[in-house]
Amino acid sequence: MNKSCKLCWGISTLLLLVILAAGFVFVKGGKTHARADGRSAVLLTPAERVRVLGEMRTFLETVQTITEAIAENDMDTITKSASAVGMSLVKTENPAFMAKLPVELKKMGFATHQAFDDIAQAASVTENPTELVADLGNLMLNCTTCHASYRFDVEGRKNN
Ligand code: HEC
Repeated sequence: MNKSCKLCWGISTLLLLVILAAGFVFVKGGKTHARADGRSAVLLTPAERVRVLGEMRTFLETVQTITEAIAENDMDTITKSASAVGMSLVKTENPAFMAKLPVELKKMGFATHQAFDDIAQAASVTENPTELVADLGNLMLNCTTCHASYRFDVEGRKNN
């Protein structure tokens, strides 16, 4: 084996490790902590918690915008606001934060972003906005199911 090929193997092994590490972050489930209200707490840094709760408020604002736009038959607004919170947002998530989230929560999170993309797509083809009401109702099952099971607490702070 010549020297340059050893380098190839070295680079390939390194790349494989990077890919495995990236995959691991998505498959690995973060630990949760049982709380008195029956939900499981995901422990985050104060900054991570502030950021994720901000994203949640954006979700709610988007649902409000879409609901109003359905009533006004304003397909453009639906497509724009729904795709702004679609899967493209997931790509910008920090791997350290992702690793703290339990697998079930990650699945529901991805399903929610994907459902917004699906609504954006449906709004760009349908003439009948009432079809989107059912889609939005289904999408919101992700919100309510996740909220029933999880909360976000701060690491090292006393919570119950
Ligand atoms: C994958 C899980 C998950 C999904 C999906 C989800 N949320 Fe949340 N959301 C949470 C958690 C956990 C909290 C924090 C609750 C707590 O700590 O008490 C939260 C908090 C919130 C808050 C409060 C924000 C604040 O400033 O305190 C709002 C509003 C919210 N979510 C809206 C939504 C809406 C609307 C959707 C659906 C479009 C949604 N969420 C989908 C997990 C989720």
